[in-house]
Amino acid sequence: MEKLVINGNKKLSGCLKLHGAKNSVLPILCATVLVKGVCVIHNCPDLTDVDVTVNILKHLGAGVYRYGDTIVVDSRNITSSNILQEYMSELRSSIIFLGALASRTGEACLYLPGGCDIGLRPIDLHLKGLKSLGYNVFTNGYDVCAVKENTVGTEIVLPFPSVGATENIILASVFVKGKTTIINSAKEPEIADLCDFLNKAGAKISGASTHTIEIIGVDSLHSVEHTVIPDRILASTMISACCACKGKIVLEGVNISHLMPTKAVFGEMGCEFGSKDDRITVSVKRRISRVRLIETMAYPGFPTDCQAPVMAALSVAHGTSIVKENIFENRFRHVEQLNHFGADIAVNDRLAIINGVPELHCANAKCTDLRGGAAVVICALAAYGESEITDINHIDRGYEKIENQLTKLGAEIKRV
Ligand code: UD1
Repeated sequence: MEKLVINGNKKLSGCLKLHGAKNSVLPILCATVLVKGVCVIHNCPDLTDVDVTVNILKHLGAGVYRYGDTIVVDSRNITSSNILQEYMSELRSSIIFLGALASRTGEACLYLPGGCDIGLRPIDLHLKGLKSLGYNVFTNGYDVCAVKENTVGTEIVLPFPSVGATENIILASVFVKGKTTIINSAKEPEIADLCDFLNKAGAKISGASTHTIEIIGVDSLHSVEHTVIPDRILASTMISACCACKGKIVLEGVNISHLMPTKAVFGEMGCEFGSKDDRITVSVKRRISRVRLIETMAYPGFPTDCQAPVMAALSVAHGTSIVKENIFENRFRHVEQLNHFGADIAVNDRLAIINGVPELHCANAKCTDLRGGAAVVICALAAYGESEITDINHIDRGYEKIENQLTKLGAEIKRV
């Protein structure tokens, strides 16, 4: 079993180029099944979630080839429209293959994705959206199937701007005759990236980055080349690490506007930013300040995916901070692990109260989930002495060889 060994309490310094966004590359890879041609996708990070998605595409009959950070998907032949339990249980976001596959083949059956380590993750909005388009959607308790019958463009109102439901409905409606309108759609940059990819392939989608997305059905999509946007969650994770350890780091390949929801919070913590083109300099000279209240919200609110890494930084802030998790019901499982390092964090339902301590000590801790795992790493980086972190498979789902990235920023970290 691999683990990370971190010798902490070192100021960070160095330069890191961001890899592509996990939450963009996964839906874009799903979307390749809509294309009866070849998709060349650049800036694909080397993540286990990407590997699983690639394996699903191969299982469906696509030819998939990786050259460095470029993935080439040849979806001219799709020979299956079923996805088995072994794939679906590994990756919850694979549910968005439902819309894409049903759209391409007329019929798709996927093993139902289960709950997950951050609480219940229902798919009712995905299924209602597909039904509204005219897909016949049914489940036998194990599989969920969508069959294209009398599909026609319509207006779909999402009660909550779900990222996955927005993506599934977009993918299911690309070939649906007429106009589909998604009202209260998610505005995350990764949705805009998916729409950009689809439009380059011949789709007619407008309104991405707004709360109303319109899709005019087209007959087919053609071969396309696309570059995935940089990972804004990775950027905020590294800035959190710098806040916890102090120092000065440079992040390259950044889309600064995507960082807007977290930059204000880091600023309140005392972090100084400089920027030029796609590079930002992050400088933390002294112990950071508390943040009165952070509430996670849909974009452009504070991202739930940054909650755990920022909490790790706040564990060494001056004063008491409060974090409220509004998106997922059980996303504080990392707190117990952070407290192993001497952090003083208490949880009450959806609130975490973080009493900043002057310093952390080394500990052995485990990763509870992807972003919670990154938070554990940040505490270990800030702590005196040598810490060991296990269950790092969670981190590998969303951070490409995190030890290499942090080494570039001056951390003493190795995988053993
Ligand atoms: C995506 C991201 C994930 C991020 C999340 C919120 C990917 C691969 N994952 O997940 O990293 O944390 O957005 O920004 O892009 N909900 C329902 N019914 C549904 C769908 C969602 O009730 O049918 C609820 C969920 O339980 C959750 C909330 O809506 O409470 C947000 O979920 P959603 O925006 O759909 O997140 P994901 O697409 O799963």
